[in-house]
Amino acid sequence: MKKHFLVTAGPTHEPLDPVRYLTNRSSGKMGYALAGAAAHEGHRVTLISGPCNLDVPDGVDYLPVETAAEMYHAVSRYIGKAQVAIFAAAVADYRPVNVPEQKIKKTGDTLTLELVKNPDILGSAREVFGFKGTLVGFAAETENVISNARGKLQRKGCDFVVANDVSRKDIGFDSSENEVTLVYAEHEVTLPKEDKYQLSLDIIEKALEV
Ligand code: CTP
Repeated sequence: MKKHFLVTAGPTHEPLDPVRYLTNRSSGKMGYALAGAAAHEGHRVTLISGPCNLDVPDGVDYLPVETAAEMYHAVSRYIGKAQVAIFAAAVADYRPVNVPEQKIKKTGDTLTLELVKNPDILGSAREVFGFKGTLVGFAAETENVISNARGKLQRKGCDFVVANDVSRKDIGFDSSENEVTLVYAEHEVTLPKEDKYQLSLDIIEKALEV
């Protein structure tokens, strides 16, 4: 049966001033591959994406955002229409408290930034947005990959979490291949190392089995 997928992708940009921002190394490839694969399989797809240098996959409803706050707002508006929500975005955990209207000048030898925590978008899906569908999170870890991923699964109410080891240079981030473990409450399934499109088809299949 065809479903409506919501996918978050990419990094977020958190402005420091009008010309600078904080971000991370996410390329968005995994989220775009998921959105493209789901659309190719005939599902309806809403892709909510931070800034990426990627072509928007065919057949996808695309909603570009910049900051975590904008992504939170977009997800809160659209998640109610979806039956499957996959959170592949690498949301910046913190944003600057104050964003001056003018460019920050280098007046001192040091500069201290005060940051405040961003809303946890995936962590809001169940209790704040009331999402009842299949919920899939991602966990990019450098150590204790499975136990950290399972902690996220429990805290955020996911059906499974796609865990990957970002300390490995051959996979993840900007790579077109990835090797992941799907972490469920009681068991794990390790998928073979494969390109992000094939991996997306496997993740979609597992999401439809939940
Ligand atoms: N996520 C999100 N909103 C955030 C932070 C994370 O939606 N503000 C989602 C990501 O898209 C991912 C999952 O939560 O699917 C895990 O992200 P991660 O940054 O690894 O988790 P955190 O809860 O921020 O944990 P950590 O303490 O490891 O940073």
